[in-house]
Amino acid sequence: MGARIAVYPGSFDPLHEGHLDIMRRCRPLFDEVVVAVLENEGKAPLFSVPERVDMLRELLAQEGPGFRVESFSGLLVEFVDRLGACAIVRGLRAVSDFEYEFQMALMNRRLDPRIETVFMTPREEYSFVSSRLVKEVFRLGGDLRGLVPDAVLRRLGERLPPQGVSA
Ligand code: PNS
Repeated sequence: MGARIAVYPGSFDPLHEGHLDIMRRCRPLFDEVVVAVLENEGKAPLFSVPERVDMLRELLAQEGPGFRVESFSGLLVEFVDRLGACAIVRGLRAVSDFEYEFQMALMNRRLDPRIETVFMTPREEYSFVSSRLVKEVFRLGGDLRGLVPDAVLRRLGERLPPQGVSA
């Protein structure tokens, strides 16, 4: 049997502790975890794909071997197939994530029945954290320590000076 490779895909704009928690949890289940950043410049992301890849590489370098970071475009299942991976990992935070994730998992299975989607739940203290809220709270000057890695907070500070509150 070849190496069991999993792909953990996403936008990661930006990466937060919930993502890192899922990466740490799935790592022991596979020989290698490839974190795959979607090239979705059309969604007007805050960080470019190379910036997101750099941040992920920097943080995952501290997590030990077995992680790789790549970007991809086109169909996820085709990328997974090209890597010879057997599984797609997705985080499920709450019931509200379920419908979208369920549709994607079934569509991906329809497109390539050999690939399994594995759902993992992050630690409860990260169950409400999303990249969208991270950006909003940061812009408004809220405290995100503990929810976003310091290296990402620093980059957010360079990109998005907090607006503070106006009278
Ligand atoms: O972090 P996100 O934005 O929720 O990740 C969504 C992602 C990247 C998993 C999804 O948009 C995706 O797989 N896009 C690649 C294109 C594709 O394969 N679309 C069909 C999915 S059923």
